[in-house]
Amino acid sequence: MTKICCIGAGYVGGPTMAMIAKKCPNIQVTVVDINEKRIAAWQSDDLPIYEPGLDEVVKEALGRNLFFSTEVDQGIIDADIVFVSVNTPTKTFGEGAGCASDLQYWELCARRIKEVSTSDKIIVEKSTLPVRTAEAMERVLHSGQSTVHFEVLSNPEFLAEGTAVADLENPDRVLIGGHETPSGQKALQTLVEIYSNWIPRERILTANVWSAELSKLTANAFLAQRVSSINAISALCEATEADVSEVAHAIGTDSRIGPKFLKASIGFGGSCFKKDILNLVYLCESYGLQEPADYWRQVVTMNEYQEMRFVRNMLHSMFNTIAGKRIAIFGFAFKADTGDTRESPAIKVCRELAAERASVVVSDPKAIENAKIELAEELEQMEFEEDPYAAANGAHAVAILTDWKEYKELDYQRVYDSMAKPAFIFDGRNMLDHQALFDIGFEVYSIGKGRKTHLK
Ligand code: UDX
Ligand code: UDX
Repeated sequence: MTKICCIGAGYVGGPTMAMIAKKCPNIQVTVVDINEKRIAAWQSDDLPIYEPGLDEVVKEALGRNLFFSTEVDQGIIDADIVFVSVNTPTKTFGEGAGCASDLQYWELCARRIKEVSTSDKIIVEKSTLPVRTAEAMERVLHSGQSTVHFEVLSNPEFLAEGTAVADLENPDRVLIGGHETPSGQKALQTLVEIYSNWIPRERILTANVWSAELSKLTANAFLAQRVSSINAISALCEATEADVSEVAHAIGTDSRIGPKFLKASIGFGGSCFKKDILNLVYLCESYGLQEPADYWRQVVTMNEYQEMRFVRNMLHSMFNTIAGKRIAIFGFAFKADTGDTRESPAIKVCRELAAERASVVVSDPKAIENAKIELAEELEQMEFEEDPYAAANGAHAVAILTDWKEYKELDYQRVYDSMAKPAFIFDGRNMLDHQALFDIGFEVYSIGKGRKTHLK
């Protein structure tokens, strides 16, 4: 029986391994992590991450051929294939601080694998990594004296949070990079066969290791660039009375452009986009490619501008003062269907509102606990309230920051009736019926559309 071990039971490692276990009952999958609480949660009815459909996938395989454990060494020793899915945050110190990837956890894993392994293994990079990380990993793995052979593959994960199960079940493609040596190609085939258990062969792409590593960074950079591009246009729409949704629709029907990822918003968040672009910027710079570095950095700069523009809009439209005003935040997660708040634009918005001395009430169906952690330094000015009606009660403004479908279905007459007047609504996701809100009596602001006001 083939044995897989995955180091890192996070947003990527957990769901990915659960899907492999579900689809391949003849493979034993063990996910290990140094975080005991996380491992215990994976074994319980209350999984550590919220992801639609994940409970069923885990339940089906848990205890059959899917195991979670804190015994990292034993997991490695037993495995034929080791996936590494530990976090690779942006470095906060030293050379490349604020840009480069912090590879310390990653290297620790490589050292651990080398130290405890007694048999040949395939090592699979799942974490997003700078190009040529596999080379560094191979050096660590093959340093000193050992008869054990390690073959490193790159198999970047393209799943998006909130749709992880669907993305894993039916991906556009799976990408596997391997060395062009006979042993590299043999390892690559082993992984191709595992995915072939449920993914059509033509959707399993193979490449060299460096292409696979770079493709992950490039995919995220392109996706984020589309959001920044439409957000840049949204600012111009507000200045010209063009409507960004109409523009997005008009350009998205050009089959060369395509309709997806053209929703103007308060900005993109999530653990990957900013980190991966900055990583790409750092890579370009370290190869002496300043113009490409500047080009990609602008995608992040544009995103920061969009977040700040939203807050400034709130402040200016509410008569340049929000001190002491109650402001209800609808949605703190970086997008709908997840409790994840990493790099959520809501963090910046709430901090800026607090700096203006507003009294901020944060509401979210799944992310309140994470919001409390993100806003630890502003807690005095924050209230947390799961019920959006209670959050809006007595508020001067409501700001929609996450595209939860729940917010489409609220009774906005009831929300309006409970608010201070004039009652402002700022739709940071362009998801509500703005005319209907205006007819109720709201002052309506959205992204990339003219404001609707009763004030003269
Ligand atoms: C992470 C990276 O952020 C992303 O770039 C990559 O593509 C996949 O891995 P994610 O799964 O969202 O994404 O990270 P996170 O939820 O933080 O999970 C990482 C896990 O690794 C944590 O549970 C952490 O405890 C564990 N870990 C970290 C170890 O088990 N050992 C270590 O040495 C370091
Ligand atoms: C992303 C990639 O999509 C995925 O392939 C990769 O593996 C990890 O990074 P994720 O971070 O989960 O996934 O979320 P994604 O759906 O890409 O959204 C990122 C951010 O962009 C969110 O804050 C979202 O609200 C925002 N967004 C997305 C927009 O503002 N407008 C859009 O049109 C699309």
